[in-house]
Amino acid sequence: MQAGEDGRGRDNSHGRRLCLPPNRHNTVCRMPRTVRARTASMPQSVQPKARTTIMTHACTTPSAHLADVRYEIRGTLARRARELEAAGHPVLHLNIGNPGRFGFRAPDHLVQAVDAHLPQSEAYCQEQGIEEARAAIAAQQAARGVALADIDRVFIGNGVSELIDIALRALLDPGDEVLLPSPDYPLWSAATILNSGRPRYYRCLAENGHLPDVEEMEALIGPRTRAIVLINPNNPTGAVYPRALLEQVVALAARHGLMLLCDEIYDQITYDQARFQPLAPLAGEVPTLSFSGLSKVHRACGYRVGWMSLSGPQRDIAAYRDALQLLAALRLCANVTAQWAIKPALEGPDTIGALVAPGGRLYEARRAVVDGVAGAQTLSLVSPSGALYAFPQVRDELFPDFDDSAFALRLLEEAGILLVPGSSFNVEHSRHLRLTLLPEPAVLGGVVAKMDAVLMRMIERVPPQSAALA
Ligand SMILES: Cc1ncc(COP(=O)(O)O)c(C=O)c1O
Repeated sequence: MQAGEDGRGRDNSHGRRLCLPPNRHNTVCRMPRTVRARTASMPQSVQPKARTTIMTHACTTPSAHLADVRYEIRGTLARRARELEAAGHPVLHLNIGNPGRFGFRAPDHLVQAVDAHLPQSEAYCQEQGIEEARAAIAAQQAARGVALADIDRVFIGNGVSELIDIALRALLDPGDEVLLPSPDYPLWSAATILNSGRPRYYRCLAENGHLPDVEEMEALIGPRTRAIVLINPNNPTGAVYPRALLEQVVALAARHGLMLLCDEIYDQITYDQARFQPLAPLAGEVPTLSFSGLSKVHRACGYRVGWMSLSGPQRDIAAYRDALQLLAALRLCANVTAQWAIKPALEGPDTIGALVAPGGRLYEARRAVVDGVAGAQTLSLVSPSGALYAFPQVRDELFPDFDDSAFALRLLEEAGILLVPGSSFNVEHSRHLRLTLLPEPAVLGGVVAKMDAVLMRMIERVPPQSAALA
């Protein structure tokens, strides 16, 4: 169907005029619509790259809300990778932290718990989640030293992803601001924007070990600021925040009356001397939402199970808790079947410790990347202290005008390796690429060597070679 001159739909096959109402923006959409990329508050470097052209017709015009939303981890480069594969060129997908794709299995005791409870999974459950799972989460919070931990303050969702959206939807009014890390896990930016909020980015620079500067955070706080988001251990940088830093952030939130939202989905994935410190036990009177789930530590991301627990004085959190409950009820409940894995995951044997200890698969994968970068001529890296990623950067002096997206495309075309450019994580002038640590260590060593080789060819001005053309 095409829109006619007057904006009404015309069905070409019958030459009939259909009486469609004008679209909600009152425009005729015969021409491609160029969608504005980011708000003024987004880093400059990502603005031009995010411009999207959508061919659309009146009744299917996407919401204007989406104009500023993107998720490049599964974006343009991933689509190009699929094209290459369809044309017979193998691609190594290092763009997603999906343990099941790299031979990791969910622990047996989780699989058995789900299997055994299948007959009890057919009905909707209480909107916040099944009671035995919420009790296990509340018990974990209490054991960590969180005051007033209780099943009424726990919400189970279809992954942390769903809960991030619910948490921000319950909090934000149009124009409210949220302090987000740059780089961030981009769902946090997307969910802020989709819920009419404005991201304000505090930088986590490589020069500072990818840790935030609390003074810089404070300078971003204004009358519309509602919350500070922390991702610890961090995706994409691998930073693990020391206790003293977390205490400063709590003090900042207390001074300015802000809520804390802490994404702790990688909470038990730390390396060497790094120790994970949960935020909630330090937060005391500051209302805090802590997020975690089964996707990473328990390698069960396909189960789509995450949870968030609310802490803080009852008088301060009661209305927000009720708002969360309302939103949880509107989507009825999370997938019940997989919730049976939560209690065994939290109370059963530790299955991640051996993987992140010396000799373990993740530890050695990280070591392969760290050693590979140490031997590379073009790259540097802040060694990841936690999570499932490395975030190397190209050397300033060798690439003054580096374009991370162009390089990622070239690496894909020439070497069949799919990484995520740093600008996808809302970083200004990114010189970084993110790769997941999930493949076998030897594979990762080879990846870093190929990155270095392609970068060297760029220095030598060898023109790009496309696998698709080879
Ligand atoms: C920091 C962070 N938060 C949330 C998520 C989403 O997790 P889930 O699978 O529970 O939706 C991810 C996934 O990679 C993540 O890295």
